[in-house]
Amino acid sequence: MTLKYDIGKVLFSQEKIASRVTELAAQIAKDLAPGRELLVVGILNGAVFFLTDLVRSMPRDLDVRIDFMSVSSYGNETSSSGVVRILRDLGSDIEGLDVLLVEDIIDTGLTLSYLLEFLQTRRPASLKTCVLLDKNVRRMVPVAVDYCGFAIPDAFVVGYGLDYAGKWRHLPDIHDVEISKA
Ligand code: IMP
Repeated sequence: MTLKYDIGKVLFSQEKIASRVTELAAQIAKDLAPGRELLVVGILNGAVFFLTDLVRSMPRDLDVRIDFMSVSSYGNETSSSGVVRILRDLGSDIEGLDVLLVEDIIDTGLTLSYLLEFLQTRRPASLKTCVLLDKNVRRMVPVAVDYCGFAIPDAFVVGYGLDYAGKWRHLPDIHDVEISKA
């Protein structure tokens, strides 16, 4: 049976996302010790939209740097393969730095859990996590999420960086995906 995937209803509008991102940025800045530099690490490609909005909402006088990592993703599937591969590593050393790992969505937790362990070996001063969406009912491994935009039920979502088979990242709102018989 062939299935057809379509953009479904809006779960989070761009206005709602923007207002939550502003709150998260304020909280992250408040939690940072005075005078400390913050390295914000985004996971490509999904976290790009979230990361760029997040750092632009941070106070102008905060010492913020950004970097990116790329890991293997689901391909065309909508469930985790359980395999995490580093495709692109950080551009510089993180030893002694306050690092904030930013991800679009946490689902099984396999990706973030692997990355946290991987980055911890490089001895950052602190390592925190920030996710826009948390599908916590599907968690397979425990992961400490320090900052979370929204908790969501078990639905596949697209838009604002999130894709299905590479599509729909560019949508400004976050939608669910409707699956029907083709
Ligand atoms: P985890 O390793 O299962 O926690 O999955 C994290 C990654 O799976 C995210 O970075 C996304 O790339 C992808 N993912 C999980 N759920 C969704 C979804 O609903 N829409 C789009 N991508 C998703």
